[in-house]
Amino acid sequence: PFVVELARTGVTVTVGPELSVLEAARRVGATALSSCEQGTCGTCETAVLAGVPDHRDSILADHERAAGDCLFPCVSRSCTDRLVLDL
Ligand code: FES
Repeated sequence: PFVVELARTGVTVTVGPELSVLEAARRVGATALSSCEQGTCGTCETAVLAGVPDHRDSILADHERAAGDCLFPCVSRSCTDRLVLDL
């Protein structure tokens, strides 16, 4: 598990293996848009403000993955204990 902080509200939520980051964020009030929920459409793109994302999408190019400044929370997870998202 890892902790996601929603920067707009300061709320934090623990994300276990049974939940996507998107689902976890919605449970604590985030209103992120989504469509495919499979990491292919790009609708849920979210800025990463701190932490290192574990990209699981099929959208980003290698250099975008390496930059680590955005993620697709319907599928992607975290390499660090804490991820701060612009949600
Ligand atoms: Fe399509 Fe996340 S909802 S990439």
